[in-house]
Amino acid sequence: MHVGIIMDGNGRWAAAKGLPRLEGHRRGVEALRKAVRSAIEMSVEYLTVYSFSTENWSRPMQEVADLMGLLKRFIRNDLADLHRQNVRVRIIGERANLSADLRQMLDEAEQLTHANTGLCLVVAFNYGGRQELTSAVQKIAAQVQAGTLLPQAITPEIIAANLDSADIPDPDFIIRTSGEQRLSNFLLWQAAYAEFVFLPMHWPDFDRAAFEAALGEFRARDRRFGNVTSAKAAAVSRTAS
Ligand code: FPP
Repeated sequence: MHVGIIMDGNGRWAAAKGLPRLEGHRRGVEALRKAVRSAIEMSVEYLTVYSFSTENWSRPMQEVADLMGLLKRFIRNDLADLHRQNVRVRIIGERANLSADLRQMLDEAEQLTHANTGLCLVVAFNYGGRQELTSAVQKIAAQVQAGTLLPQAITPEIIAANLDSADIPDPDFIIRTSGEQRLSNFLLWQAAYAEFVFLPMHWPDFDRAAFEAALGEFRARDRRFGNVTSAKAAAVSRTAS
C-alpha cells in the first residue's frame, strides 16, 4: 500500500499557540518521524510526504531557508536511523535549483538506502506535479525528435515511466491535514484513483491514532477504479466461488 501525505498546517498550529512559524515546522518534523514509525509498524510499503512544493519559494526568504535547513537537519539526524530500520529513501522533485550541499545530501540518502527492503519513504521536495509532468513531456519530446519514439506510440505507461516516480506504484490513499480540501499540485498524474481523507487537525498534531483512524476509513471505502463492481466485492465473490 502507498500512502501520500500533504503535511499542512504547521504555520497555523504555531500561530494558534503564539509561537513562531519555524516552531510549527520543527514540530512538523517530529510528526513526520512519528508517521514514519507508524507506517513501518502498520506495514505501509510506500509513504510519500509533501515537504516543499515548487510554490513554497514564494514564502518569505527566511522561511524558505528554515525549511531547507530542516530538511538538511532531518537527513543529518535521521538518516542513520532510517537506514537501520531498513527504510529506503527516495526524493522526488526538481533538484537543479537546490544548493549543491543539499543536492549532495539527497543523493547520499538515496545511495545509502537504495538496497533496503522495508518502507520506501518518498520525500517530495521542491516538487510540483505540473513541473514533473512538464519535464516528462520534455524527455518524451526529445525521444520523438531523435526519432526513437513515434508520437502514436506514447502511452500512459510511457508517460508514467518518465515521471520522477517512475518505479513507484500510484498512491492508494492521500491524507491532507489542516482542513484544506485540495491537491495543491501533489502527485497529479499518480493520484488518478487515490482515495482522499481530509483531517481537520494541523500536521504537528498528527499521531499514530490519527494515522490508524485514517487507514481504517480508507479500508472501509469501496474502490471501483471506474468499474461497476468494487475490488472488495470481486474478492468476496472470488473466495465464495
Ligand atoms: C505546511 O504547513 C507544511 C509545509 C510547507 C512544509 C512541511 C514541512 C515539514 C513537515 C517539516 C519539514 C520536513 C522536511 C523533511 C523538510 P504550512 O506552513 O503551509 O502551514 P499553514 O498553511 O498553516 O501556514
